[in-house]
Order: sequence, then structure tokens, then C-alpha cells
Amino acid sequence: MENKVHIMDHPLLQHKLTILRDERTGVKEFREVVSEIATLMCYEATRDLPLSDVEIKTPVATATFKKLSGKKLAIVPILRAGLGMVDGILTLIPSAKVGHIGLYRDPNTLEPVEYYCKMPNDIAERDVIILDPMLATGGSATAAIQFMKNYGVKNIKLMNILAAPVGIERVNKDHPDVDIYVAAVDEKLNDHGYIVPGLGDAGDRIFGTK
Ligand code: PRP
Ligand code: URA
Repeated sequence: MENKVHIMDHPLLQHKLTILRDERTGVKEFREVVSEIATLMCYEATRDLPLSDVEIKTPVATATFKKLSGKKLAIVPILRAGLGMVDGILTLIPSAKVGHIGLYRDPNTLEPVEYYCKMPNDIAERDVIILDPMLATGGSATAAIQFMKNYGVKNIKLMNILAAPVGIERVNKDHPDVDIYVAAVDEKLNDHGYIVPGLGDAGDRIFGTK
């Protein structure tokens, strides 16, 4: 099995991503645009949500229409940077529950280190979308996906704004059942594990910590 990589190269997404890449973009605009991108990506990532029939009386006639079948969803941002995508998703799916995974990447080993985890009680019955703007080595995403599987979650999607080829390969190798949704795939990682040309440190740019 191989995971599907959905590259969403819609013109609106490309334009907004260019704003994020620009080093002159300040914290306020960066945060707003990350949220807008998450909303646009959510539209595509939820394309396969199941529908059921419902009979509705319009002012003209009664007929059968579609509504979401009520399959439960949860979104799980990887702290910190994933938090920037939460409100953008909740704009479209306001009833989704939100779990949190705290991971930071050790700057020397580039391995993810866990520092926080809090999930909704019924997480095992929900479909989960993991959120993180950046998929670099793939270590953080792979660890987060494994957490969700350990909780019993069956249906997991990964949503990243920007990815490196090596990160996609890593998720594909470790979790071939997980579909990945990205707005762009850049060329490579540099010696510090940063995506090139990339957009810099997403967490620092969202929270103004540099
Ligand atoms: C960044 C990013 C991802 C991770 C990606 O987080 O938000 O979680 O790095 O890198 P990887 O694919 O090589 O694991 P970081 O560790 O900088 O933490 P932060 O969000 O708190 O800034
Ligand atoms: N994490 C980031 O925030 N940016 C990168 O380029 C790689 C990992």
C-alpha cells in the first residue's frame, strides 16, 4: 500500500504560500494566512466525507437531499506550529473536537521529543486530521501518527502546508495507510533540517519567538 499525496496547487493556495515564504511578512499577517490556507486545504481534505439522504421541504417542493452523515471528526495539531491551523479548520467544521500533541524537534538529533498529549475521550471512534505546517524529516509527523494509532484511531490524514520529499517518503514508509495533503513540495532540506527554499521556522513565525 502507498499513501496518496494530494498536492493542492490551487492558485489561491500558491499565492498565499508565497506570502508565507516572504521573509518580510510579519507575525500578524503570517498567522492570518496560515489560518486561511488551513481553511482552503480543509475543503479538499474533507472531500470524501460520507453523506446520507435527508428529505427536505423547500418553499416549492419536497425532495431528497444530502447532508453529512455525522461521522465524527477530530483535528490534532502538533504543538506549537500546528495550532496556527486550528481556527482555519474550525471555520468549516465547528463541531470537530481538538486533541493536542506537543512535540519539538531536538536541534542536534532532529528527533521528535514529546512533552504534552491530551485527546478527546472518544478519540478512537473519530476520524483524525493531524495538522502541522511543516513536514521536514518526517520525524514529528511519523511520531504523531503512531500516537494516534496507539489510541486506536483507524482513519488518519496528515495536513501540512509545506513538505520536503524526504518527509513524504518517511511517512509513506512508516505509515502507508495515511494520506498526506500539502500545498507544495519543496526541493530539499538543508544541514539543519530546514526546508529549502521553505518559509523558515513556522512556530517562530506564527508566535513571534525569534
Ligand atoms: C517544526 C514543525 C514540525 C517539525 C517538522 O516544529 O512545526 O512539527 O518541526 O520537522 P520534522 O518533519 O523534521 O520532524 P518544531 O520542532 O520547530 O517545534 P515548534 O512547532 O514548537 O516550533
Ligand atoms: N520546521 C520548520 O518550522 N521549518 C522547517 O523548514 C523545517 C522544520
